[in-house]
Amino acid sequence: MTEDIGERVVELAKRRGFFFQSNGAYGGVSGFYTYGPQGATLKSNVENAWRDRFAVQEGHQEIDAPTVMPEPVFEASGHLDGFDDMLVECPECGESHRADHLVEDATDIEDAEAVPISEVEEMIAEHDLVCPNCGTELAGEPVQDFNLMFETNIGPGSSQPGYLRPETAQGIFVEFPRLKEYARNQLPFGVTQIGKAYRNEISPRNSIIRVREFTQAELEHFIDPEEDEPPLERVEDVEVTLYPASEQNKENGDYVETTVGDAVEDGILTNEWVAYYLGVAKPWYERVGVDMDRFRFRQHLPGERAHYAADCWDAESEIDGDWFELAGLAYRSDYDLSKHGEYSDEEFTLFKQYDEPKTVERATVDPDMSYLGPEFGGQAGEIADALETKAERDRTAFDGDTVSVEVDGDEYVVPVERTGFAVEEVTESGEHITPHVVEPSFGVGRVVYTVIAHAYREDEVDGEERTYLELDAEVAPTTVGVFPLMDKDGMAERAREIAAELRENGLDVTYDDSGAIGRRYRRQDEVGTPFCVTVDYETLEEGTVTVRERDTTEQTRVDVDELAESLAGLRNGGGTFDELLAPADAE
Ligand code: GAP
Repeated sequence: MTEDIGERVVELAKRRGFFFQSNGAYGGVSGFYTYGPQGATLKSNVENAWRDRFAVQEGHQEIDAPTVMPEPVFEASGHLDGFDDMLVECPECGESHRADHLVEDATDIEDAEAVPISEVEEMIAEHDLVCPNCGTELAGEPVQDFNLMFETNIGPGSSQPGYLRPETAQGIFVEFPRLKEYARNQLPFGVTQIGKAYRNEISPRNSIIRVREFTQAELEHFIDPEEDEPPLERVEDVEVTLYPASEQNKENGDYVETTVGDAVEDGILTNEWVAYYLGVAKPWYERVGVDMDRFRFRQHLPGERAHYAADCWDAESEIDGDWFELAGLAYRSDYDLSKHGEYSDEEFTLFKQYDEPKTVERATVDPDMSYLGPEFGGQAGEIADALETKAERDRTAFDGDTVSVEVDGDEYVVPVERTGFAVEEVTESGEHITPHVVEPSFGVGRVVYTVIAHAYREDEVDGEERTYLELDAEVAPTTVGVFPLMDKDGMAERAREIAAELRENGLDVTYDDSGAIGRRYRRQDEVGTPFCVTVDYETLEEGTVTVRERDTTEQTRVDVDELAESLAGLRNGGGTFDELLAPADAE
């Protein structure tokens, strides 16, 4: 049962209220989805599980930044210049397509994004690719870079352009000068954010897999690359399926089944921080219900890496034979903080105190302005600054009689005796460093989709076909369905009371009294409710209820007084349904 799961998931998601295309009343707009009552709860349960693992258990802090940010942020981050996808437009119907996706669909190439534009154009011609909308040939059509950011204006008029953030990360980076204070200027520290990101995708597809508005859960872990090491021993035994770039380049490239510790030792995972987060991520995906037989970590090919990433591995899952990215785990080095330091007026560095003060030699200049002024006129000030920078970076340049510096593309030669060059000994208590960043970046919608697809089951119960979702109790939108067997003799009232009691005990409860009991079970099965409780005559007479487990459909009777504790225990992983069955079997 592997075919067309995607289609069945989308149909179920719409029918049962997980997710559906937004704005249906106005014809719908591609790439925008609404999470219905079941989906919103499932999504929020996934977010809470992520928060628990990546923020709470790691000791990181969470923030909540705005989604609209001014243009200079994205000039600095490189998104204005480099956040592009390849677009090809149909000359006949005008529909735009992702050129790299057309190539991937028609060839064995898995990541055409990494292929240069000119080669993509050649492949379009070579494989006679046509417009998927109207069938017109696309050979000869130009492939262009299309920037994915949504532009807006902040306030009236167009004087302050802004953009909807394409990644939540920038909301963390721009606040680094303040966030480091909250962390008492001590590295390492991590900041997380769960929030919306926006990308004007050329061709949104696969329902919530590729959308224009989506939720990311991101962690930016700021480290001192010289000193900080991850606690690898905590995850070294985690088993992982790796698909390194070297294997992807081979004709019969294969996976490497290994552990995080061995992969580091064998040089497959070359960055220990990325390795650490692979080891954290894998059990987390398993915890929320991703099938580990359909899960892998794939290393980015060099041409595929984002403009900021020094190394990157994607967590990927498989549905219907296609692999897609769930998360990117990247080493962003000091790229972002350096850029924001360069483009803004703030310091994006952190003062690192030495254990012992150090005496170091420092090269300085004290230019003779009575010489520079008449000699170089209006450029004198900038030449003096350039001499200072040169002395800091290359003191050997002052070894001769003259030293040359560049200002605005012009070269100026200054006699060394006029520069006041000197080398002094100074005692320093520390230095300003730019932290490096390790970033696990998760797409929440893609986890929701995978969890549903991997939990999708069809079987037969009492001669009837049944569809159910084998969702983990931690993420299932409803933990317990409560039904009165009939709406008479006080059963409905008692069922409502029991539902209220279970809610008071922190369980997600759905009360349902409509239709035959079998249909009510099917409805809960389809949304993945792990347990259903039925109130009947025995409840009124003896104070017990029927508890039915979703996957096996087995039933047992439980004392109402023990119900909340038993079900909360089952939801939180304390015990199994078999143990709950045991006392009943023993009777
Ligand atoms: N800050 C790094 C970053 O944004 P990314 O690989 O571009 O990296 C991270 O995005 C995750 O966000 C992806 O692994 C994916 O799960 C999710 N994502 C990206 N684009 C998406 C889209 N158009 N629709 C749904 N999810 C998306």
